[in-house]
Amino acid sequence: MSSTLVRVGLVGVTGYTGMELARLLAVHPSFRLAAVTSRQEAGQTLAEVYPFLQGFAVGDLVVSLPDADALADACDLIFLAVPHGAAMSIAAELLARGRKVVDLSADFRLRDTAVYEKWYGREHSLADALAEAVYGLPELYADRIAAASLVANPGCYPTAAILGLYPALARKLIDPDDIVIDAKSGVSGAGRGPVLGSLFCEVQDSFRAYSLGSHRHTPEMEQELSAIAGRPLVVSFNAHLLPVNRGILATIYTKPKDPGLSPAAAREAYASAYADHPFVRMLPAGRLPEIRSTRGTMFCDIALVADARSGRLIIVSVIDNLCRGASGQAIANANLMCGLPLAAGLGQAALVP
Ligand SMILES: NC(=O)c1ccc[n+]([C@@H]2O[C@H](COP(=O)([O-])OP(=O)(O)OC[C@H]3O[C@@H](n4cnc5c(N)ncnc54)[C@H](OP(=O)(O)O)[C@@H]3O)[C@@H](O)[C@H]2O)c1
Repeated sequence: MSSTLVRVGLVGVTGYTGMELARLLAVHPSFRLAAVTSRQEAGQTLAEVYPFLQGFAVGDLVVSLPDADALADACDLIFLAVPHGAAMSIAAELLARGRKVVDLSADFRLRDTAVYEKWYGREHSLADALAEAVYGLPELYADRIAAASLVANPGCYPTAAILGLYPALARKLIDPDDIVIDAKSGVSGAGRGPVLGSLFCEVQDSFRAYSLGSHRHTPEMEQELSAIAGRPLVVSFNAHLLPVNRGILATIYTKPKDPGLSPAAAREAYASAYADHPFVRMLPAGRLPEIRSTRGTMFCDIALVADARSGRLIIVSVIDNLCRGASGQAIANANLMCGLPLAAGLGQAALVP
């Protein structure tokens, strides 16, 4: 599949992750966007829906209604950028037609249907597909992603938290029972639907916490972090809404198992764990990451601070929720599934200032 253009489809092109996928796919060297869907905007060209795509070949593509037969005819691989629940039924139809699927929703992330049903409040009707789904975090599961037909793209907060904690947990540097993940996200994380809490005047010039102790990304983090630690663990995960469009900054408070863990030893563990993973950037000692350095990119920027006074190892992990935390990561997974280089089409530097 790697020598010719791969035909890809996008269900949910009018959402924020769909918008980001369209932006990235417009210039991807090996994927050709062959079908895009929206129930609200069907019949318009992509350039009419998104003026920023005028002048790109994808701008002439006409948005269609979501239809599994048409998608399966037109595409080899389909991105599902739709809410959980909707993704499950569309994925089932596409998989039955022999197509590869990258699902950006939470429908195939949780291994245990009972956990899904508890946190998402709906029945999981596709246990067979779930058993085949691979969690799409390339730094951990690249080989399995490459062989998968169905990839569950990770959530945005879990991407930042898992990448931030992976070396410390895998190398048993920290106490798995004492982890606090204090994370902040830009407003696009809530989707493009018009809801009161996302309106400009509700968000701009303010800052608030939400879903403390009850955010739906908690079981996803615990599932993956438990697998890394080799035993079940519970985290305290708390979310906050930043008055910016994009970006996640997670400050993660941990307790080193060895109170004498030196900052240099901690940094060395992270540097070697991520030596072969170019999308994770360890910042030099004394530097702290900021969201603008990752805007529109696949980078996860991580800094470590050994706070000797409180006996904490503090990990700061930063990503762009729409690119690394959703659509860019979905493309990286699709690259692997199609035998392409992980970073194909994802080589951008951050959009600054
Ligand atoms: N926003 C983020 O930062 C982020 C990060 C990681 C993962 N995710 C996940 O990615 C998915 C998409 O998120 P988003 O923020 O892009 O959502 P969004 O802005 O609300 O967009 C949802 C899209 O799905 C379409 N859609 C809704 N219901 C549908 C249905 N029943 N059948 C077919 N299409 C439907 C909508 O278009 P029409 O209504 O016109 O069909 C729209 O294009 C969600 O599952 C979300 O949890 C989001």
